Amino acid sequence: MNEELLKLEHLSIDYKVKGGYLSAVYDVNLTIRKGEIFAIVGESGCGKSTVAHSIMALLPGGNERIDGKILFNGEDLRALSKRDMEKIRGKHIGMIFQNPLDSLNPVYKTGSQVEEAILLDGISKTDAWQRVIDLYKDVKMPDAEERAHSFPHELSGGMRQRVMIAMMLSRNPELLIADEPTTALDVTIEAQILEIIKDLKNTHNTAIMLITHNFGLVAEVADRIAVMYAGEVIEYGDVFEIFQNAKHPYTRLLMKALPRKTQKEGRLQTIDGSVPRIMDKKPGCRFANRCPYAQERCEAETPAEVFASETHMYRCFLADEAGREA
Ligand SMILES: Nc1ncnc2c1ncn2[C@@H]1O[C@H](COP(=O)(O)OP(=O)(O)OP(=O)(O)O)[C@@H](O)[C@H]1O
Ligand code: SF4
Ligand SMILES: [Mg+2]
Repeated sequence: MNEELLKLEHLSIDYKVKGGYLSAVYDVNLTIRKGEIFAIVGESGCGKSTVAHSIMALLPGGNERIDGKILFNGEDLRALSKRDMEKIRGKHIGMIFQNPLDSLNPVYKTGSQVEEAILLDGISKTDAWQRVIDLYKDVKMPDAEERAHSFPHELSGGMRQRVMIAMMLSRNPELLIADEPTTALDVTIEAQILEIIKDLKNTHNTAIMLITHNFGLVAEVADRIAVMYAGEVIEYGDVFEIFQNAKHPYTRLLMKALPRKTQKEGRLQTIDGSVPRIMDKKPGCRFANRCPYAQERCEAETPAEVFASETHMYRCFLADEAGREA
């Protein structure tokens, strides 16, 4: 269970934009183990999708500069040829996106698109169609047989996401990257999709990288959590370590902003300011301009990784003193 599947080592990604290079991802180190749900949480623009796309070698190409290692089962994906990377993408790492319509072909029945993925395995057409129906049932598609004949536009957002998950299931990848898979869905459907993702882990031992800006959601499903801020992983740890003993002021503020069932006033606390776009890398903590505890040192030096336990990392100079009551 503790076997390493994906390991990011000092991963940094800059985008060339007007006026210079934007530091979208900076010095990210993390490991995803076989069969676990690893959540990456952070506000909009903090680099979550950039990390995901870099693993899949799906960055737009042309304007990015990438540094560091992306090890999958010990092999550096960045060193692979385009062709070998396509094989990894087809079979070993799958990805589902926030908007499944972007990934489905509008002119084919959804069932046929799932079938196409299955036929790659060389099974007969009749068996393949039956497998499609079984997969639709696995993802709890209502009226599975009928829905397999539907075109993407005839399905609801939740149903389309089920089609995408069915397609992924048919490939049985070792790692599934889910980039905000439920953001476009209402809460009931969101809960159902998350259940299916959890099932995937339990029945197929698939490791899942679940990307979300919803901290509340990860508590329900994740084994481990990484919090990103302005391109950096500022804290990671087991779900219990993060929820019971978060160290970084940003993580604490994010958790404070969570709606609590016991809170009567129902008003969310938000964090003042917004995620900065880091144009050229300077020393200093990237959270300094929003941090209530910032001191001179925070502007002058970059906080290194500090380990609170073997599994719990954070980047902050003052976590043990200043951040306590955050
Ligand atoms: N192709 C690109 N060219 C230039 N800048 C980009 C490009 N793609 C992303 N960025 C910038 O990189 C930063 C990180 O973007 P990214 O999409 O990874 O964030 P995210 O955490 O996934 O955000 P969201 O929650 O909104 O999806 C942002 O400032 C974004 O504007
Ligand atoms: S290093 Fe300083 S600015 Fe950064 S989070 Fe810690 S206290 Fe705040
Ligand atoms: Mg994104």
